[in-house]
Amino acid sequence: MPTALVTGITGQDGSYLAELLLSKGYEVHGVIRRASSFNTGRIDHIYQDPHEQDVHLRLHYGDMTDGSQIARLIRTINPDEIYNLAAQSHVAVSFQQPEYTGDADGLGVVRLLEAIRESGIDTRLYQAGTSEMFGSAPPPQNEDSPFLPRSPYAAAKLYAYHLVRNYREAYDMFAVTGILFNHEGPRRGETFVTRKITRAVAHIVAGIYLGNLDAIRDWGHAEDFVQAMWLMLQQDEPRDFVVGTGETHTVREFAAAAFDRVGLNWEDWVHIDPSYYRPTEVEHLHADPTRAREELGWRPEHTFDDLVTEMIEHDLSLLGLDLDMASARAAELRRVS
Ligand code: NAP
Ligand code: GDD
Repeated sequence: MPTALVTGITGQDGSYLAELLLSKGYEVHGVIRRASSFNTGRIDHIYQDPHEQDVHLRLHYGDMTDGSQIARLIRTINPDEIYNLAAQSHVAVSFQQPEYTGDADGLGVVRLLEAIRESGIDTRLYQAGTSEMFGSAPPPQNEDSPFLPRSPYAAAKLYAYHLVRNYREAYDMFAVTGILFNHEGPRRGETFVTRKITRAVAHIVAGIYLGNLDAIRDWGHAEDFVQAMWLMLQQDEPRDFVVGTGETHTVREFAAAAFDRVGLNWEDWVHIDPSYYRPTEVEHLHADPTRAREELGWRPEHTFDDLVTEMIEHDLSLLGLDLDMASARAAELRRVS
């Protein structure tokens, strides 16, 4: 049975990846952070009590800022594959916490690479890179596009990208970076723009404050993207890949599509709060995923419309509602306004 170590298992991607690996027969070890209350909501449905028989998912405390624990986990678990998904992943927050973001997202990867090197184990590493590293590079972006990062988050991820490449060349490691464009889903963190919008649609009456509506993103579904992560570690040779859908929309278009699902006009509900503008913005991310398509055979299965609908249905279900009930409520609101 292959063994995988997943950092960031409590996050959006970590939870989908853990499901995928378990379905493929892996023993999965996840790294979680100690918190004052439970932070495992996204993986509770696959959690197994370690006292049970035949346990395939095990959780360990750890933090990317704590190198000795990372080294200990790698030594004792001896995984065949490591997926480093742990990160302070919010671009806007990285402007407020640049030092911590650099520590967790940049230096954290050095700690991981050094732990692998010093343990001498034969393992494969997937590093979660990002299309944010392209920053202001002209679209569409592929593996040969320049990196022009526009945030402390992107700069930290770019540092990690170069380190992974350097360790691959210097120590002959199977270590790769997936340069993934935005991917979302019902488990998306509530402060990313797509989820912020679909939650607002579900709650309807509150309206919503957003920042830059003109930003263009290549939004896919996280369930499709974790497949690409796994495929990258199954190749004969270690190689970096761009992963994205190749289809783009503005934030405005996402909001319009989401409000339209329940029959509302987004312009009546979306307001601008300039404090959500970033000091430097990444205006246009558009993937050219040719290499992933040709060499990994990867293709997204979810469409943009599927994604918007699934996210709204999920946020409505949390309130005990469905699309028909929400549409009826919206029609009532239109009548009284
Ligand atoms: P996410 O939902 O924010 O999850 C991040 C995970 O990292 C969580 O499990 C979090 O733990 C953990 N974490 C944060 N800081 C940590 C630290 N210092 N030590 C250990 N764990 C830490 O992010 P995601 O959307 O799943 O993204 C996964 C990875 O892909 C991230 O590295 C992100 O930067 C990258 N990425 C994401 C996208 C995207 O569109 N989703 C695109 C490109 C790249 P808690 O649950 O305790 O907070
Ligand atoms: N979060 C947020 N909140 N973004 C807003 C808002 C708002 O109220 N209003 C407009 N936006 C714009 C942002 O300025 C940005 O241009 C776009 O919406 C998307 O923002 P996010 O959803 O926060 O995602 P991101 O593109 O900055 O970063 C995500 O994708 C990266 C890959 O390209 C994150 O998942 C990163 O971790 C990931 O690397």
